[in-house]
Amino acid sequence: MTPSAPTDSHDQATTHSYLSALRATLGEAAVLTGSDISETYTRDWTRDRHGQCLAVVKPATSAEVSQVCALSHATGIGIIPQGGHTGLVGGAQRNRGDCILISTQRMTAIEEIDADGMTCTVQAGAVLETVQTTLGEQGFQFGVAIGSQGSAQIGGLISTNAGGVNVLRHGMMGAQVLGLEMVLPQGQILSSITGLHKDNRGPDPLRLAIGAEGVFGVVTRACLRILPRQTHSATAYAGCTSMQGALDLLRHIRSNGHEVLSAFEVMSQSCMPLAQSVDPSMILPVDAPVHVLIAFSSAMDLPLQDHLEALLASAFEQGVVQDAVIAQSQSQAARFWSIREGLVEGQIKRGYHVRSDVSVRLGHVPQAAVALETMLAEEFPGWIPQTYGHLGDGNLHFNALPPESKSEEEARAVGKTIEARIFDIVTELGGSFSAEHGIGRTKAGWFRKTLPARHDLLAQLKFTLDPKGIMNPGCLLAENPTHPPDREDPKTTGTGSPAAK
Ligand code: LAC
Ligand code: ZN
Repeated sequence: MTPSAPTDSHDQATTHSYLSALRATLGEAAVLTGSDISETYTRDWTRDRHGQCLAVVKPATSAEVSQVCALSHATGIGIIPQGGHTGLVGGAQRNRGDCILISTQRMTAIEEIDADGMTCTVQAGAVLETVQTTLGEQGFQFGVAIGSQGSAQIGGLISTNAGGVNVLRHGMMGAQVLGLEMVLPQGQILSSITGLHKDNRGPDPLRLAIGAEGVFGVVTRACLRILPRQTHSATAYAGCTSMQGALDLLRHIRSNGHEVLSAFEVMSQSCMPLAQSVDPSMILPVDAPVHVLIAFSSAMDLPLQDHLEALLASAFEQGVVQDAVIAQSQSQAARFWSIREGLVEGQIKRGYHVRSDVSVRLGHVPQAAVALETMLAEEFPGWIPQTYGHLGDGNLHFNALPPESKSEEEARAVGKTIEARIFDIVTELGGSFSAEHGIGRTKAGWFRKTLPARHDLLAQLKFTLDPKGIMNPGCLLAENPTHPPDREDPKTTGTGSPAAK
């Protein structure tokens, strides 16, 4: 981390008195500057991006967040909200050191579990895994599971509308949110937390925070829907001849297992060397072009394992699946999952690579996978495709590893062109270039270019709430949006959502 010098946009005296006021308000220990700012705040977990900041500020309560926002609004000094810092699109990283980072890491309280209402109210900094463990102890479970849940925090999950492996069953993070509390850029604390499941007193404007990546304010608390603990499960690892074969298998499983299906993940064979690179002793349960992980779960005592076995047997007879293994123990199931998780870790070890997070209608996934892989093979020889993701909800991560011979600089330049080609292909199929990771800073230009009407409406709303543009500048929306946006008339640009073909 390079300690940031007071910036171009704020003079030293303003910055100095602002930091003194923060220290007086929150206490010395809650405001880090210079060499006290560790890389965990400024470098993303893939070690791909570095950011800068003026200070790291760690409030403990919503009232303290409010005081920070009011001080920032008064001086015009920007705020970048940061949760567990596990995002993949640079939403919590800015390449200029002119903003403070507001970390929710001290706001970890699990305030209430309402067993009757099946809700849980937490502070934004509660870590997902801790929430899961605490709920588990009381016979409950949370509906979102992601690889980074040991660090990811509820506020960040809401702000990015995180997805993960259970979306096909429970929906994305936004679907779990019953109410939330947000501190607006000028310091006002608003809450829609009631613990109610039904409350139609008009739309809840705070739902704007879901997927907004902190541009409207800082999410500070939330009331979440919870489930009975899924005490019964069955896990299978299968091999299919193609992505079309994997889709056929999904159809087969859903035809008589939809209610208990909680994950259906795919990985192409070409991903396996990376998965094995983190654990060379890893044994692959099948040898097939496409690997599939299937999970059944229920709170009821159902014969899930027998049922999954019967479904796979009939799939085998019908030629839908090439090979399959059912986990005989929890630890075998965990070993299956470690292949999927190892793949992500292996990519980080490999260094720079093209990452994507696309979705298409489920029926278009095989076509998308073939088009993406053909594009890479024909236009970028030597690059290795890594097609994997959440087939159950139509979300693929189509990544590409550069040839080892390329320097990082060369690879990054070509990588930009590959990304553009991925976006073209997905757009052509009526899909999305950001399924679950968000826009952040890495995709903000694409967002503005491809969805101008949506961008500009959000920019108008932002201007209303945040006239000085202090909240997460440059993330999601163009920096300093004007009001009304002077670039295009939203009425003439349609909804901006391409129709599915
Ligand atoms: C995954 C992350 C990268 O699915 O979204 O592994
Ligand atoms: Zn994913």
